Amino acid sequence: MREEFDFLVIGSGIAGLSFALKVANNGRVAVISKAKLDETNTAYAQGGIAAVTNNPDNYEKHIEDTMIAGDGVSNRDIVKIVVEEAPERINELISWGAEFDKNQDGTYDLAREGGHSEHRILHHKDSTGFEIQRALIQKVRNTKNIEVFENHFAVDIITQHHLGKDVRRSNADITCYGAYVLNLDTRNVITFLSKKTLIATGGSGNSYQTTTNPVIATGDGVAMVYRAKGTIENMEFVQFHPTALYNPDEKPAFLISEAVRGYGAKLKNSLGEDFMFKYDERGCLASRDIVARGIDSEMKILGDDHVYLDCTHLPSDELKEKFPMIYEKCLSLGYDITKDLIPVIPAAHYQCGGIKVDTFGRSNIHNLYASGEAASTGLHGANRLASNSLSEAVVFSHRAAMNAIDTLNESVINYQIPVWNIEGTSHPEEMVLITQNYKEMQMIMSNYVGIVRSDLRLDRALRRLEIIYTETEELFKKSILSRKLCELRNLINVGYLIIKMARNRKESLGLHYTIDYQ
Ligand code: FAD
Ligand code: SIN
Repeated sequence: MREEFDFLVIGSGIAGLSFALKVANNGRVAVISKAKLDETNTAYAQGGIAAVTNNPDNYEKHIEDTMIAGDGVSNRDIVKIVVEEAPERINELISWGAEFDKNQDGTYDLAREGGHSEHRILHHKDSTGFEIQRALIQKVRNTKNIEVFENHFAVDIITQHHLGKDVRRSNADITCYGAYVLNLDTRNVITFLSKKTLIATGGSGNSYQTTTNPVIATGDGVAMVYRAKGTIENMEFVQFHPTALYNPDEKPAFLISEAVRGYGAKLKNSLGEDFMFKYDERGCLASRDIVARGIDSEMKILGDDHVYLDCTHLPSDELKEKFPMIYEKCLSLGYDITKDLIPVIPAAHYQCGGIKVDTFGRSNIHNLYASGEAASTGLHGANRLASNSLSEAVVFSHRAAMNAIDTLNESVINYQIPVWNIEGTSHPEEMVLITQNYKEMQMIMSNYVGIVRSDLRLDRALRRLEIIYTETEELFKKSILSRKLCELRNLINVGYLIIKMARNRKESLGLHYTIDYQ
């Protein structure tokens, strides 16, 4: 089967849908999503979207906060672009129907999170992402020219390699012609041909055992582009959110927004000590890498499974009013946050690196763009500043869309692309081979490539990952495709990239902290 579109958008979060809306007047658009449209990291975002809206805040302060969080690795020009363009893009989200909380005088109710020197986070209670996702889906459903394909899994992007040509990583002259996509209902692989393709597949939190990310976050875009010999960077910078609710069997781990700390909640250890000032003068509102390491260290010193977040000194009515989802969730587990301490632990949360793109979201593969968590724009550097990712996604999807529209006439549909080859494949004999390797991979990453690393642990991780890589590649070649198998293969690719880049970095920097180079 074959489908032809001007624009192929892989992913239905904020990055994919905002791009689709922008290009829809200029050609036919396919949005493909491996699950339902609203199953995205975007829908889980709690704290909000960062932007400078009024005094006493200004662009310089937001730029400096982002640069400090990024530990010197962020690209200042890119930071400037995102900070200065975010307000206009957020106004666009509002014009598409997204609502953010306001004060009685009509100004936005701005929250504060770790690493921000000002209150600058626009939010919708504590479920900002859900609101943005709702508004975008509604707009997309009502936009002519956009065709939605739910339960469609992009397996690989199509390049000259599929025409039997030798594509070398050092050769920049690779072109993308679309993607092979598995229809999860029929199990057919469809050849989606396109002039322009956007990877908006989000992050890869499921590389780890404990993550705030929903099950869709398996690094598919990064893995596809890596296999197509595109450039991937900064994968060693995996952000662990300091405060996921400690509830060991729950997946994903429920997030307790940093905005709760921004509102005055304190981290405490099991001795009742407000320990964060031992690690940073900003205390609980230091940047995430520092807070997550502080918690990790306290847990190790005291032999505890978690630390606590204390909100009990905060006005209870306001707490419930500002954080209704968090209040209800904790109550359902027996914690009344107005009276009880909340047990919390760090959890894998955000992939700061990804597909390297330029100022227009272009990867090094012609006609292939990336935006959102799958992309590495240069904004986050070694550590992302809270609530900067939603802003980054709208800014870069806009820029990519403008470039894709301007250059659409230079791109053509390639009709020589062959169909996906299923010769010699059959159903895997035992699904347990896939599920077991999935668990092993998560265990390797959590035990050896977590918040605190060492050369020894990274070497050990690589050796073990190589075994399951070989097994999984063999299985992939001889199997009829399934979502679980493809995701496992992608997560192993992502794990490999994280370990490889972590081994190459002979220093502690931002989120990459190693006891061998301090
Ligand atoms: P996503 O929203 O994750 O969308 C990815 C899409 O790609 C999905 O539709 C998925 O189905 C699809 N997809 C993936 N692989 C394939 C494939 N192979 N084939 C087809 N489709 C595929 N950031 C902030 O700025 N502020 C916050 O307050 C905030 N809070 C957060 C809270 C939580 C609990 C989490 C998990 C993240 C939070 N983040 C926050 C981060 C932010 O939500 C994400 O970085 C951002 O939403 C990513 O958007 P995206 O469009 O790149 O990807
Ligand atoms: C949060 O609400 O703490 C998440 C914010 C983010 O990840 O940017």
